[in-house]
Amino acid sequence: MSSAALEITKPLVLVGLMGCGKSSVGRRLAARLGVGFVDTDDEIARAAGMSIPEIFAELGEAAFREGEVKVITRLLAGAPKVMATGGGAFISPLVRAEIERVGTSVWLRGDLETLWGRVEGKPGRPLLEAENPKQVLADLMAARYPIYEAADITVDTKANNTHEVVVDDILKALARTK
Ligand code: S3P
Repeated sequence: MSSAALEITKPLVLVGLMGCGKSSVGRRLAARLGVGFVDTDDEIARAAGMSIPEIFAELGEAAFREGEVKVITRLLAGAPKVMATGGGAFISPLVRAEIERVGTSVWLRGDLETLWGRVEGKPGRPLLEAENPKQVLADLMAARYPIYEAADITVDTKANNTHEVVVDDILKALARTK
């Protein structure tokens, strides 16, 4: 699908649970739209001078969430771009309100097996450093999916989908909102 005619005037904010592909899809989506891309977790880590696991371990989750609000609010105020957020960002009422006020939110929805298949055994996600990480993911899914549903656009991501298929689906959904 050609995206030449599509011009975003607001930040496009990818939300969804760990493993749904926000960063990989976001990078490709930004390239297709000819705009910048930013991963908000990378920006939080850069601002803190620590990795996400280090922030959780040394400062605690509450400090990470404070950084998340500040960094996302700052990035939303900049030029329209594609933003990939951490899985908990849209769950924070403050962050969600700011995303809703300034941007267009896109939920990448996947089922448990799809997401688990992508995060299993991969380091860097402190919330999954648990005895039964798949159960943690399932619990987060139950708690968060009713909230992600508030996103402006929902696109399904499946285990056998390439990222380009998801990008195409987002572009089609965006074209329908114009
Ligand atoms: C989190 C998801 C992570 C990261 C942090 C907390 C969450 O991002 O922000 O570990 O609360 O779901 P990804 O969704 O990019 O893995």
